[in-house]
Amino acid sequence: VKTASIDAGAEVLGFRDGFRGLVDDDAVWLTYDMVSNVLTQGGTLLGTTRDHFFAVPGNGADHSTSDRTQQAVEVFRKHQLDALVCVGGDGTLTVATALQQRGIPIVGIPKTIDNDVAGSDVAIGFDTAVWVAAASMDRLHSTAASHHRVMIVETMGRTAGWVALYAGVASGADVILIPEIPFTVDGILRVIHERMHRGRHFSIIALAEGAGHGEALAQEIERRSGQESRAVVLGHLQRGGGPTPADRLLATRLGYEASHVALAGRSGVAVCWNDCGVHEIPLVDIAGHRRLVDEHSALVKTARAVGTSFGE
Ligand code: F6P
Repeated sequence: VKTASIDAGAEVLGFRDGFRGLVDDDAVWLTYDMVSNVLTQGGTLLGTTRDHFFAVPGNGADHSTSDRTQQAVEVFRKHQLDALVCVGGDGTLTVATALQQRGIPIVGIPKTIDNDVAGSDVAIGFDTAVWVAAASMDRLHSTAASHHRVMIVETMGRTAGWVALYAGVASGADVILIPEIPFTVDGILRVIHERMHRGRHFSIIALAEGAGHGEALAQEIERRSGQESRAVVLGHLQRGGGPTPADRLLATRLGYEASHVALAGRSGVAVCWNDCGVHEIPLVDIAGHRRLVDEHSALVKTARAVGTSFGE
């Protein structure tokens, strides 16, 4: 909003609650004053919803009766808009791609703590979620060490293991369990026993939600190892509160770039952060694809090299 209004004198209309505001024509003019002082806040001024309005395969609204694409196109035209900037993860950008194909010029911005948007090394929100998860693991060390327990920290991330991997490496977790790397309970127990032999009577396990349930795993580990085990599910704590400086920088940068792309009349792309710079990636290369952890990546190799187990 700031770039568009200062750089080009453009007007910016915001739709409330994401695509719901678009199909229901629930909109508000976003002025410079309205977006002042939001840099340090989490959440969204406009609100959001996970409801499905468009017949995009796999999003739950594939019936022509519930498809409201035509309304979206009409509302977009009624306001004589030049472009629609869509901020979100895989689901949002897949729907945005379908709207582009129906004639609405789209500029996407990757934003999801899951960090699984294809085409972007990092999405807005990921760094904040990693910070919360790593800080939580740091704090759980006290109880783990004092009570000689296994502490399992379950992170979000849907089908991707990015949050657990980054937070686990950052806080020195003993075991990191992610959906991309198959593990066994035997593999986890080996680590716990090896640590005991070395006089370490506690272990910290970072568990991605896509790899299993913390509570069930804690019970199995306790039953089979005899060591007291507890699970902590971080849940939506990872999605709230003030964003980290890295996320503020990324959001500012991508917002600026998205404005310029839209003002230049380009569309059908998302502004993505790769190789220390912003790149315009075609939406068709993003829609329906997920960016998952590569088990041969440098970070996984590094984690293994410093003694972290992936429970294999
Ligand atoms: O996609 C973001 C995310 O936080 C996932 O990590 C998680 O699986 C999901 O959303 C939770 O969704 P909800 O807030 O609808 O329960």
